[in-house]
Amino acid sequence: MEAVIALLPGDGIGPEVTRAAADVLEAVAGTFRHEFEFSEYPVGGAAIDDFGDPLPAATVRACLAADAVFLGAVGGPKWSDPKAAVRPEQGLLKLRREMKVFANLRPVTVHRSVASASPLKPEIIEGVDICFVRELTGGIYFGEKRRENGVATDVCTYTEDEVARVVRLACRLARERRGRVTSVDKANVLETSRLWRDVATRIAAEEFPGVHMEHALVDAAAMQLLQNPRGYDVVVTENMFGDILTDEASVLAGSIGLLPSASLAESGPGLYEPIHGSAPDLAGRGLANPCGAILSGALLLRHSLGLAREAEAVETAVYTTLRRGLRTADLAASADHISASTADFAAAVADEIAGEGQGRAIA
Ligand code: IPM
Ligand code: MG
Repeated sequence: MEAVIALLPGDGIGPEVTRAAADVLEAVAGTFRHEFEFSEYPVGGAAIDDFGDPLPAATVRACLAADAVFLGAVGGPKWSDPKAAVRPEQGLLKLRREMKVFANLRPVTVHRSVASASPLKPEIIEGVDICFVRELTGGIYFGEKRRENGVATDVCTYTEDEVARVVRLACRLARERRGRVTSVDKANVLETSRLWRDVATRIAAEEFPGVHMEHALVDAAAMQLLQNPRGYDVVVTENMFGDILTDEASVLAGSIGLLPSASLAESGPGLYEPIHGSAPDLAGRGLANPCGAILSGALLLRHSLGLAREAEAVETAVYTTLRRGLRTADLAASADHISASTADFAAAVADEIAGEGQGRAIA
């Protein structure tokens, strides 16, 4: 197939991990005979520097016209003056809104070969397989913000429709998995959470009789996530809680550098990004773990291009490469144990994929 993929490298380690993901997607194209056309567009701090705007109009146009969008990371100390009128993060938030990607899928799985990198006990994390579905275009992130006379306000709003569509997507996913959805809220305190709980209960009961829906308060869920993470299958929650819980959940996997995400709209291109940030301290040194980015590429193949076999080939290649012992800095027990730079790791994954292609040709 032919596909147009917009690359938004962004800031910090963003360009390095984007290159890694694009190299692996190139390998997929070569092995499985597809044609992917890549073009790069500015976003975040890099776009502020060059255009005075964290999301130039040309970037939005290109993203909406593409088959899929890949974003590295945005942000960094250079642009974090709290008084600055524009911030890199505004570019990412606006892009999510413009692309209407309301559902952010963040799968968290634990792989035996890197489980020792987690500070949690092996018996707690073994076999963990959670898919977080974070609402991405509503809530406190997008409500009115004000600051005057020493008083600051952030408004959190949700409509029934906004809750219904993301809960529906979570229930559909659960149907393909173990059939359980945990809806996380703070219904003992927040009105938006009471609405969330009502809608989640109704959608599950009326539309998904085979799915078991349970509700959890976010504080208790944050604790359970570390005490009994195997108890979760699909977790659906609002924007802010999802942001916090998924960083917490990355500790289960061993490194935040391992985790991918897919942000999906009702129709149109999806937005794919590793869940980690721009890690300015690691930038330009080949130290970043590209797994989250490469696995986001796999999600892109699966969800935006409908290439399930190719997506699996990428995932298998990543885990084989980890099993073979390649370790970027975040996963190495000490500096002596670093056995791969960002680019080395991506090249090894690309080789695995090409090797698999050859295997198939011979068979
Ligand atoms: C994430 C990030 C973003 C968010 C930031 C960079 C605005 O933390 O994608 O999880 O809060 O959504
Ligand atoms: Mg976050």
